[in-house]
This record gives sequence, C-alpha cells and structure tokens, in this order.
Amino acid sequence: MRVLGIETSCDETGVALYCSDQGLLAHLVHSQLDVHAEFGGVVPELASRDHVRKTLPLIRGVLAQASLSHGDVDGIAYTCGPGLVGALLVGSAVGRSLAWAWGIPSIGVHHMEGHLLAPLMEQSGLDFPFVALLVSGGHTQLVEVSDVGHYRLLGESLDDAAGEAFDKTAKLLGLPYPGGPELSRLAQNGRPGRFVFPRPMTDRPGLDFSFSGLKTFAINTFSRELSSSELTGEEGGLRADIARAFEDAVVDTLLIKCRRAVRETGIKRLVLAGGVSANRRLRERIHDAMTQEGARAYYPRPEFCTDNGAMIAFAGWYRLRAGQREPLSFSVRSRWPLEDLAPM
Ligand code: KG4
Ligand code: ZN
Repeated sequence: MRVLGIETSCDETGVALYCSDQGLLAHLVHSQLDVHAEFGGVVPELASRDHVRKTLPLIRGVLAQASLSHGDVDGIAYTCGPGLVGALLVGSAVGRSLAWAWGIPSIGVHHMEGHLLAPLMEQSGLDFPFVALLVSGGHTQLVEVSDVGHYRLLGESLDDAAGEAFDKTAKLLGLPYPGGPELSRLAQNGRPGRFVFPRPMTDRPGLDFSFSGLKTFAINTFSRELSSSELTGEEGGLRADIARAFEDAVVDTLLIKCRRAVRETGIKRLVLAGGVSANRRLRERIHDAMTQEGARAYYPRPEFCTDNGAMIAFAGWYRLRAGQREPLSFSVRSRWPLEDLAPM
C-alpha cells in the first residue's frame, strides 16, 4: 500500500510517499524559516499562506521523485491536529479533496502520533511496548506505548515545552529564530560548569516537568554577568557558557525522568521523538544512560525528528491498514490529547 503523507501543522510543509513493501519512496520538506525569521517566531497567518503555496508543488515533486503518478497512490494521510488551525486546514483540505478526486481513502493523523511512531519507520529491532519521550516545540511528554493508539500519559510539562524553553532562552540571548538549534550550536563552545542551573522537579517523585523557570534563570544570569563581561570583552563567551548551562540542565532533567520512567514501567525500550530529539547532546546522554540501565534508546534520523511528511504517511498507513477512514467532512483540532486517540 502506498500512502501520501501531508504535514502542515506549523512552519514546515512536509510531503512524503511511504510504501508498506518498499519503505519510504520519497520525501520533501519546505521550511518557512525565511518567512518568519524577521518576526522572531511563527506568524500563523503567514504560515497558512505559505502552506497554500507549497503543498501542491511538493506533492508533484514527491510523485516525480518516486517516478509514480497519482494513480499509484492508495491512500492519503494528513495532519489534522494539534497545531495552528489555519495551517492544519490547508493540508487537511488538500489531502481530503485529493482523496475524493482520486477515489481513494484518507485519514487525519495526530501530529504527535506521527512523531511517536517515526522511529519504527526505519529502525529494525524496535517493538511494542516502549516508553516515548516526546519533546517538541509544543509538547514534552513521557508516554507508555503498548501499541498503536494505546497510549498512557506518564508525565508532561506543566508549563513550557522543552523546545519552547530552548526557543525562548535563545531569543533572550539574542540568537536568531529558530532558537533551539542555534542555542545548541552555541553551547558547543560553552565551558561546562561555569554556571549550574537547576534541574526542575527532579527532587520530587513523579514524571512531570517544568521548564519555564530555566529561561528566567538564564536571563538573570546573563543580566548579572553582562556588565563585567562587557568590560573584559568576554560577552560572546558569556553567552556560550549560559547556553551550555541551559542545555545541560534541560538534558539532565529529561534524562533523570526517562531513567525513572524506564525503571517504573520495567520497559527497556525508550523512544526519543520530536524536534528536540535532534539535539546531539540529548541523544548521546540518553544513549549512555539507557545502556547503563540495561535498556536501549531509539531515535529517528535527525531529519525525521523535526516536522516532516514521512512520519504522517507512516502513521496514516497504520490506521488505513486497520480500516480506519475519514468521512467526507473533516475537521482539525488545535489541541488534542494523545490519549483521546481512537485505538486500532
Ligand atoms: O517537532 P518540531 O519540529 O515541531 C513541533 O512539533 O513543535 O519541534 C520544533 C522544536 C523547536 O522548539 C526547536 O527549537 C526544537 O524543536 N529543536 C531543537 C533542536 N532542533 C530542533 N532544540 C534543541 N536542539 C536542537 N538541535
Ligand atoms: Zn512536531
């Protein structure tokens, strides 16, 4: 079965073609970085308009890449939530309409389910059940996954998501949008241990997170140290050292909770997914920690950590294969708890 996947929930237009026999046949991602950079963050209306411009050309591009035509597509999957409503409506309207025109089934996909299943697309050896750490711009969740659609929330952020904390702290340090990868790059030059930030909520039981205090900690440290750094010409070094302290605190906090989740559930497989799972230090540290636990960490290739159409095609294939179908009418959801998803 060949499934066309369409992702338009935020600031990336992603389209892909997944084949259940041959794996991923083609995928293209258009990033809206240039559209939003001058505003320092995503402008929803501009995001929707850009998805309108890019979705159909990317679909044509993916079919050309795979040397196939629309007659070779057996189903269409599109992200229908959570995300920006206008942006979601573009991909959903295009996906649902094409499916009707081509006489094939379609399915709306939960964006986080896409992230969560992404490592299964290419990883051999990963099987259910597993614990998933979902870390993106809008979510930080630990989820027990017993099968597709069977999700138990173990813990989540009570305020900012990890990616959001990266982005906000980067902005406070004067880094360009998108902040997460920029901050991480800067942290590579930072001296470890010059500043030590708290590891929020790790001193109490439970698997919830809180990241909003860390950005305040970062900006307070920056303001306090800035005047003396300016005098000595060390401002660049100061930023890098703060970036390093921030990254270490986030990574350590995520790691402590992942270790706890693996111990509490007794499940020895941990999946890392969502944009922040592209973070190199997080991947390395989690890999080492899981090895110590006698467990194994799985993560998608970095290009499938951030938003893409391949994960949507793949998650959609699971549900289409099980006979799930979208009615002719469709709807999108800006908020959508993962646990509300229909089991298969
Ligand atoms: O999954 P994603 O592409 O979009 C959402 O569903 O939100 O995640 C985007 C988030 C942003 O907050 C971005 O700053 C963060 O992932 N991110 C990173 C890195 N790459 C992306 N954060 C830290 N280090 C990275 N290397
Ligand atoms: Zn995402």
